[in-house]
Amino acid sequence: MPQPHCTSPIGVFDSGIGGLSVLRELRRELPHENFVYLADSGNAPYGERGDEFVERRTLAIARYLQEEHRIKALVVACNTATTAAVAQLRGSFPDLPVIGVEPALKPAASSSQTHRVGVIATRGTVQSARFEQLRQAFSDGTEFRAQACDGLVSAIERGVEEEDPANGPSAQEIRRLCARYAGMLGSFGVRTGDIDTLVLGCTHYVFIKDELRRLLGADVHIIDTGAPVARQTRRILVQQGTLAAESDRDTGSGQVHLYTTGRLPALQAAARRWLDLPATHCSALPA
Ligand code: DGL
Repeated sequence: MPQPHCTSPIGVFDSGIGGLSVLRELRRELPHENFVYLADSGNAPYGERGDEFVERRTLAIARYLQEEHRIKALVVACNTATTAAVAQLRGSFPDLPVIGVEPALKPAASSSQTHRVGVIATRGTVQSARFEQLRQAFSDGTEFRAQACDGLVSAIERGVEEEDPANGPSAQEIRRLCARYAGMLGSFGVRTGDIDTLVLGCTHYVFIKDELRRLLGADVHIIDTGAPVARQTRRILVQQGTLAAESDRDTGSGQVHLYTTGRLPALQAAARRWLDLPATHCSALPA
């Protein structure tokens, strides 16, 4: 197989459209790179399907991206796939730099003033051994309260296609689920005993940040991982000498193409709404 070079694309994937929140930060940080994004929406939600399934999908997607698109690095823009499969992925593709996404417990622990941090994520992430390790590593002086949010990823996936995304049936479902899960975590605010920091441990949840902010109040610090992951990707490309330069623009860099194993109109709606990309940047793949 030919060696990847600077203008080879970076592969990015998620169980669905959630990883577009990471792709948005990657494009901001690395404007001269080419990206290929795969939304495995035909198989979402990963977090409710078990590790074995997620591992199988992750390896199949990595193989597809490497063989068909000759990617030079892979960003796993999914917390659930990272916890379930990043070790196997690195073992199976030893020459491919892999950047994963994990709930940002460390920055949350350092910024919380009440020393009480909420984490929302998928069931797969919350119940994983990796999450327990993270929690133990940073829980010195900080109490982490984690809540699995069944149903939330599916509602976000469905909602993107609805005519009135702010008030349609999925938006109402998202509102109901957010209120329920936030209530299960405890009281939010900045007084002693309150949760003052909420970690978004799922890349889909970035797209409901406004809803969460309305619910929790302006004082609560909401943390996601898109920007740090984009900076980490830059560091890795610099290390391996494959960072695209501005001069690569002449050879067609800065391109992005998105694929989905789910409904093409849903990906097109998400791309338009969140990345300002026209429908021509999107294609369907078999699930
Ligand atoms: N965006 C994925 C994550 O970050 C959602 C996983 C799912 O489909 O449940 O975990």
